[in-house]
Formats: sequence, structure tokens, C-alpha cells
Amino acid sequence: MDRTILFHIFAAVLFLYIFPITCLSKTSTNITTDQYALLALKSSIALPPDHILVNNWIATTPTLVCDWVGVTCGKLHRRVAALDLPNMGLIGTIPPHLGNLSFLVRLNITNNGFYGDLLAELANIRRLQYVDVSLNNFGGPIPHWFGAFPKLVFLNVQNNSFSGSIPQDFGNLQSLKVLIMQFNQFTGCIPPTIFNMSSLEVLAFTGNSLSGNLPANMCSYLPNLKSLYLSVNYLEGQFPPGLQECSKLQVLSLSVNQFTGRIPSKIGNLTMLKQLYLGGNSLEGEIPREFGQLVNLELLALGHAGLTGLIPSLLFNMSSLEEIYLQANNFSGSLPRNICPRPLLRVLDIGRNKLTGNIPSGVGNCTALSTIDLQENNFTGNPI
Ligand SMILES: *[C@@H]1O[C@H](CO)[C@@H](O)[C@H](O)[C@H]1NC(C)=O
Ligand SMILES: *[C@@H]1O[C@H](CO)[C@@H](O)[C@H](O)[C@H]1NC(C)=O
Ligand SMILES: *[C@@H]1O[C@H](CO)[C@@H](O)[C@H](O)[C@H]1NC(C)=O
Ligand SMILES: *[C@@H]1O[C@H](CO)[C@@H](O)[C@H](O)[C@H]1NC(C)=O
Repeated sequence: MDRTILFHIFAAVLFLYIFPITCLSKTSTNITTDQYALLALKSSIALPPDHILVNNWIATTPTLVCDWVGVTCGKLHRRVAALDLPNMGLIGTIPPHLGNLSFLVRLNITNNGFYGDLLAELANIRRLQYVDVSLNNFGGPIPHWFGAFPKLVFLNVQNNSFSGSIPQDFGNLQSLKVLIMQFNQFTGCIPPTIFNMSSLEVLAFTGNSLSGNLPANMCSYLPNLKSLYLSVNYLEGQFPPGLQECSKLQVLSLSVNQFTGRIPSKIGNLTMLKQLYLGGNSLEGEIPREFGQLVNLELLALGHAGLTGLIPSLLFNMSSLEEIYLQANNFSGSLPRNICPRPLLRVLDIGRNKLTGNIPSGVGNCTALSTIDLQENNFTGNPI
């Protein structure tokens, strides 16, 4: 035989056999690996004998794994693509084998009793897009490698006992839309890189021990942000002057921190706002007149905030406002006669201020009102 032909045959053999083998050897996982990983997960959970997983997740023909409770396989590749085990009373740890589910896109184990930390092995799951481990007992620091998931869209770790600082690397998550880390024990500053995730729509850090100032330009790179929850932390300094650049904000929650200074009048430019929480800070000055532009505002919470001056009568003309909390400030002067020109108002809490004058006669028009607190003011006239 011709040497060239021999060479071609040799090359073909090399291509058909050796190349795929060397190629596969890098990611030599298959549905059997997936079954092995899930069985490892099962054995790291303390299951009561009557739990649905006990007789459902059992070693079998590997392809049948796709029919197990909580498991969804991809239509084409028939590998485990989603693991949905919410609200199942699962108490245990995450075994390193879970990192072998290399086709996993969604991991949802919310509202169980998982504990321990999130293992480095999970970093191997490069396809992850949705991770919900909220309402468990995980602890320790959030592994910085979360910042290396190129496709992550949704991360919810709320209501665990995670501690340590928020990893800077999160700034690399350019596809991330939802980041919920509230009600944990995070400390330190919010890294400036967090405010650089331009796809972000929801950012929630309420109920941690975060400190420091917010960057003045924090909204410059967050054009899509709809909800910002930073309440109940130790954040300080003035409200960032550039807040109005988060022009799509619907919920702004900065209450119960150590913010100081005046409420920036530019908040009036956030015309999509539905809920504004700024109470429980050490502010000064008045409610800016510009709040009258917040035509979509449904809830205004400014209690315990050190505010002074009159309660602007335009507040009561805002067509959408349903709940007003202005208690425990130093507001003075009297209320407008008709506080319910549009009878949407459900809650009016203006107790513990220095308001004077008559209790507004128009209060009878507030047909939707379910809670009213006028206590500890200097009103004259009959209390209602
Ligand atoms: C899966 O992961 C475990 C632990 O990380 C490892 O020991 C095992 O060799 C991996 N591979 C397969 C094919 O299960
Ligand atoms: C996880 O499951 C819960 C309960 O079914 C659901 O509300 C939540 O949206 C799910 N999260 C994700 C990321 O799919
Ligand atoms: C934010 O992103 C911009 C543009 O990609 C970059 O120039 C800047 O250094 C980043 N800032 C931070 C704090 O990461
Ligand atoms: C903010 O609102 C003021 C009116 O109070 C208006 O003059 C200004 O153009 C607005 N700015 C932006 C950026 O929308």
C-alpha cells in the first residue's frame, strides 16, 4: 500500500478514536456521573423513612434519573439540567460530588435545613444560571468563586448565616439580574464593583452588618435597577447625590442605618418609585417639595428620621399614595383641611410630632383608612 494512503488511514484512526477520547477525558462525565452525584446528595441528607426521596431516588438504569422527583434533564443532552428541591424538609450538607453535575443550569434548594458551607467543587458547574439556596442554615463566607460564573442570572442566598465580606469578584457577573443576600451576617463595606453590574435589576442587602458610605456615583452603571434594599445595616454618610440616575427604581429602601444630612431633592426625579423607605436615620431638614413629582408613589416611610418643618400639603394630593409613615419626627404646623382628596389612603401615621391646629375635618373622606395614629401631638379639637 502507498505510504500516503497508510498515513491517511492512520490519521483517520487517530481522529476517530484518539481525538474524541482525549477530548472527552477532560469532561468525562455522563448521566451515570449525574446519578452518582445525586445519590451522594441523598446520602448526605438525614431522611425520615417516609420521605418521598427514600424510594424515589434509588440506583437504577442511569437514564431513569431524569424521572426522579425534583430532577429535570435537558431535552437534547439528557443530562441533569435542573435540581428543584424546595420546601422538602431536607437536613444535611452539600457533598462535593454535586460539582460533577456539569450540565446543571438551575439549583433550587430553598427552605430546607442544609448547613455547612458552599463548596469549592460547585465552581465546576460552569453552566449555572439560577441559584436559590435561601432559607437554609448555610454559614461561613460566600465563596469568591461565585464571581466566576459567567452565566449567572439569579443568586438568592437570603436568610442563612453567611458571614464575612461581600466578594469583590461579584463585579464580574455581567449577566446577573437578581442578587439577594439579605438577612445574613455580612460585614464590611459594599465593594464598589457591586455597583458595576450593569444588568442588575434587584439588589438586596437588608438585614446585615454592612458599614461605610455608598459611592457618590453608585447609580452611574446601574441603568436597569428596579429595587434597591439596603435597610437595617450600619451604612453612613449622606444619601448619594447621584441616586436619581437609577431612573427605573421602583423600590428604594435605605431605612434603619446611620445616614445623615438632607433628603436630596433629586429623589423627586425617580418618578417610577412606588415605595420609599428612608426612616430610622439621623437626617435633618424638610421633606423636599419635589416629592410631589413622585406620581407612582404608594408608600412613603420617613418615621424616626429627625425631619423638621411642615408636612407638605402636596403629599395629600398625590394620587397613588396609600400609606404614609411620618411618626416620631419634629414636624410642626397644621395639616391641610382635606387630607383625603382621593380616598386611597389606608395608613396615616403622624404620631409623636409637634403638629398643631385642628384635626382635619376632611378625615371622614378617608374611606379606605384602616390605621391612623395622631397621638402625641398638640392638636386641638376632638380626637376621632
Ligand atoms: C465526582 O466528584 C467526586 C468528589 O468531588 C469525585 O471523587 C469523583 O471522582 C467525581 N467523578 C465522578 C465521575 O463521579
Ligand atoms: C425556587 O422554588 C421556590 C418555591 O417553589 C420558588 O418560589 C422560587 O422562585 C424558585 N427559585 C428559582 C430560582 O427557581
Ligand atoms: C466599572 O466598569 C467600568 C467600565 O467597565 C470600569 O472602567 C471601572 O473601573 C469599573 N469600576 C469598578 C469599581 O469596578
Ligand atoms: C429632575 O426634575 C427637575 C424638576 O424638579 C427637572 O427640571 C430636571 O430636568 C429633572 N432631571 C432629570 C435628569 O430628569
